[in-house]
Amino acid sequence: MSEIHPGWPAVLIAGPVTVRPPRRRDAREWSRVRLANEDWLTQWEPSSTQSWLARNSVTEFHRSLSRMRSAGRSGTMLPFVVCYGDRLVGQMNVSNVSRGALRSCSVGYWIDSAVAGRGITPTALALVLDHCLTEARLHRVEVDIRPENGPSLRVVEKLGLRQEGYYERFLDIGGAWRDHVAFAITAEETRGGTLLSRLASLPLPPG
Ligand SMILES: CC(C)(COP(=O)(O)OP(=O)(O)OC[C@H]1O[C@@H](n2cnc3c(N)ncnc32)[C@H](O)[C@@H]1OP(=O)(O)O)[C@@H](O)C(=O)NCCC(=O)NCCS
Repeated sequence: MSEIHPGWPAVLIAGPVTVRPPRRRDAREWSRVRLANEDWLTQWEPSSTQSWLARNSVTEFHRSLSRMRSAGRSGTMLPFVVCYGDRLVGQMNVSNVSRGALRSCSVGYWIDSAVAGRGITPTALALVLDHCLTEARLHRVEVDIRPENGPSLRVVEKLGLRQEGYYERFLDIGGAWRDHVAFAITAEETRGGTLLSRLASLPLPPG
């Protein structure tokens, strides 16, 4: 199994930030955080015909957990939650995992507005990118960001990801086709040190 799907499952830790697979007992906390962050998240998330309440219920978490576990097992996804201390504060999903000659993937993320601005996402993203480019044996990771999303652009800037392209009308977000800026990194670019070490000059959030 590990030969087919290297790097899964995994628990990645840096100081107070832990990135780990989601589990059944995360359901209530995940739903609570998501419902409390509707205004914060809706403008950046895929359009849906379901209400925010329905999309983020405990029941929906369990449905989504089954899909994510199955995708994790089949090697098409590495689904993670982000914890700060012992609190679940966000998600970071590695998706579109492609093997063969491409060996590439995409990463998406969100975090609770109550803990924004503490460097949690750059730390989690550094852990996940380092993992993808080593243990998971992928060669390239892409992060796609709307040009209006200043905080997310700042996250990839902190990690020094390379701007690779501009996709017009790329994703259906908030009810319309939105342009995205594509950032990427390949394994060769981390040979001088891990992405986590690139963050070393920035203070880690206190535990
Ligand atoms: C993008 C996001 C994940 C960044 O996470 P984070 O853990 O706050 O990241 P950082 O701590 O590095 O902060 C990044 C920037 O956000 C801005 N920021 C800081 N505090 C903030 C706050 N309370 N509210 C809004 N933006 C804030 C700052 O510009 C900061 O840059 P700085 O550290 O140079 O000051 C988070 O803002 C978020 O979840 N947004 C909504 C969902 C989303 O946009 N997902 C990504 C889609 S591509």
